[in-house]
Amino acid sequence: MRTIKWRNGIVLTIDQTVLPIKEKWIELKSCGEVASAIKEMKMRGAPLIGVAAAYGIALTAYHSKAKTKEELMQELERCAETLRRTRPTAVNLFWAIDRIMNKARENRESLEDMKKTIISEALTMADEDVKVNRRIGKHGAKLLSDGETVLTHCNAGSLATVGYGTALAVIRAAWEEGKHINVIADETRPKLQGARLTAYELMRDGIPVTLITDNMVGYVMSKGLVGKVIVGADRIVRDGVINKIGTYTVAVLSKEHGVPFYVAAPTSTFDLSETSKDVVIEERSPKEVTHIGSVRIAPEGVKVMNPAFDITPLKYVDAIICEKGVLTREDFSELVKKNL
Ligand code: MRU
Repeated sequence: MRTIKWRNGIVLTIDQTVLPIKEKWIELKSCGEVASAIKEMKMRGAPLIGVAAAYGIALTAYHSKAKTKEELMQELERCAETLRRTRPTAVNLFWAIDRIMNKARENRESLEDMKKTIISEALTMADEDVKVNRRIGKHGAKLLSDGETVLTHCNAGSLATVGYGTALAVIRAAWEEGKHINVIADETRPKLQGARLTAYELMRDGIPVTLITDNMVGYVMSKGLVGKVIVGADRIVRDGVINKIGTYTVAVLSKEHGVPFYVAAPTSTFDLSETSKDVVIEERSPKEVTHIGSVRIAPEGVKVMNPAFDITPLKYVDAIICEKGVLTREDFSELVKKNL
């Protein structure tokens, strides 16, 4: 499944807010439309929003009426700024914007060549994402045995990337190697990415998946029903992993029950210049907590907290699976030291 496509100046993507009830493809024709789709989580997941941002900049280049390269550059800068303001936590968004803007800045060709370079860079980034995810899968699959049950949180699958996924890449690769893997997906309140998206895409692939609510994780672990945990990441900083709210709880429970806890993410999710206290944790609308879908479940006027991500300290992470290989906690600490 490829979640984002470029067709002659139009971006096509699946509206993830209506999955799994409808598989609705939408057309985005401008940077502003891409920015709104990211903000409203029609597209979500760290790697996907990075590539989507690159496509947003490519749309600006494609449709620009600028007469000079300087004028085009100003339009691109405005688009980049709009995209930067969509969601603050996943570093892939900023990584992708910086990569494509640097490409635009270093371009010395004609105006038309500059546009082509930007569009081709965005398309390259999308293709690279799938290749990187396949490598993550291949490295991670070594950690899984035949018959293993893997618990995952949120959706770190094809839908969170251009294709193949990160945490789900590991499961897919093991499955493709002939290992029989069972997945436990927790629902992931409040946006229910586990129930709506992970369950949907695994069932589509014929990989056995059992859905539980978030508060059942402790019980299933205490019953010995979980062999490994694999989650994705929105940003991996020097001292921890930032991922969907609830990841930290799963990590602490994993430690308590001796269940290995792995994070699967491309190196574009690494942000070794920062520590967890530097990162802005997105706070989303209270309505996501007071309502399930459009149905209110809490009293009107109740005070609400709705952080979209949490921080799992490194001590709970057994390994990080990236496209370069499997980094144990010790390997990762070495990498952090080298970056000092
Ligand atoms: O708020 P979301 O749905 O964009 O959050 C997504 C996650 O937290 C994923 O686990 C993470 O981006 C990794 S996706 C490969």
